Order: sequence, then structure tokens, then C-alpha cells
Amino acid sequence: MAKHIPVRRMADVKEPLVLFLIGMRINTFWRVWEWLPSFLAMGPMIVELYKNPELGFLRARTEMAGRTITVIQYWKSFEALEAYASQGDRKHRPAWTAFYKRATSGTGAVGIFHETYVVRPGEVESLYVDMPADFGLGGAVGTAQVGVRTESARQRKG
Ligand code: HEM
Repeated sequence: MAKHIPVRRMADVKEPLVLFLIGMRINTFWRVWEWLPSFLAMGPMIVELYKNPELGFLRARTEMAGRTITVIQYWKSFEALEAYASQGDRKHRPAWTAFYKRATSGTGAVGIFHETYVVRPGEVESLYVDMPADFGLGGAVGTAQVGVRTESARQRKG
């Protein structure tokens, strides 16, 4: 189990970065051959991104809730994320094309989504107590210990 840090810490956001939520929803479980390829496409991309830090990816965490699987990702910039998505020599662009080829069956057995947020210093707040050092936004950008001037959420945001 990852070691957790007993003091109160906050993400140390010094520069803008991007929070990217991406995922899939299994609409029809039994049509496995329709949703499984989308499910299987994600892992190799995450491996590719961790292996190539120059692409601007920082880190990711996967959450599952009912029919929906969400990968929470942190990126250095919107431009880096956009560039990765469109690069023909990387794993994403072929997966994009393959998805729409499969989707022509029109059953809607799998849904996909993404949401992109630009996170700016002064517009974000976080707190971690007894959490592993590599968790969440703090894990992506580093953390600072909460002090007298950052006791409340409002102060940490400022
Ligand atoms: C590390 C994982 C992934 C990242 C960072 C990522 C990122 C992105 C981004 C930024 C776009 C928007 C591109 C643009 O419009 O300029 C996009 C579109 C798309 N992605 Fe991904 N993606 C990932 C995984 C996947 C997977 C696993 C699939 C497989 C189903 C997929 C399928 C698609 C499709 C079909 C689109 C086009 C959607 C549309 O505009 O109609 N992506 N992705």
C-alpha cells in the first residue's frame, strides 16, 4: 500500500495546467465485442504517455462507477493534450478512427466522453490529509504543507 503522509498538504499549483476527464459508459453489457476494444485501447495509451514525458502528460488515475469508467488525467497544457490526440504516429489517432468505424453499427453499445478544464493558480484549491504523496492534483504538480496563511479553502485558493 502507498505510504500516506500524516500532515495537511495542498497542491502547489504554480503554473496553469489541464485536468482532462475521459471515459466510457457500457450501455449494453452483452455486446462485449462492441465495447471491449474501446476499453482495451486506453491502457497502451497510458503506458505510452508515462514512457514519453515530453508529450506533456503528468499522471492519471482510473475510477469505476457502475457502467462508467473514468480516467482522470493531468496535462501540462491544452496544446500538449491536443497535439497528442492528433499525432498519427501515436496510439490515440488510430483508436479514434477505429472507434468511428465500429460505431457505424449504430447500436450505441458504448458511449465515450471527455471534459477538459484549464486549472490556473488562484482558481484552484485542494487539501490532502493522510493521502499518498502521488495522489491527485498534488501528485501531478507537487504539494506544499498547509500553513497559517493557507488554513481555509478560501486562503488556499487565493
Ligand atoms: C490517454 C488517453 C486519451 C487521451 C489523452 C485522449 C484525448 C483526446 C482528445 C484531446 C480528443 C479531442 C481531439 C480534438 O478534437 O482535437 C479526443 C478525441 C477522441 N478520442 Fe480520445 N483520448 C484518449 C483515449 C481514447 C480512447 C481509449 C479512445 C477509444 C475509444 C478514444 C477515442 C476518441 C475519439 C473517437 C475521439 C473523437 C471524438 C469526436 O470529436 O467526435 N480516445 N481524444
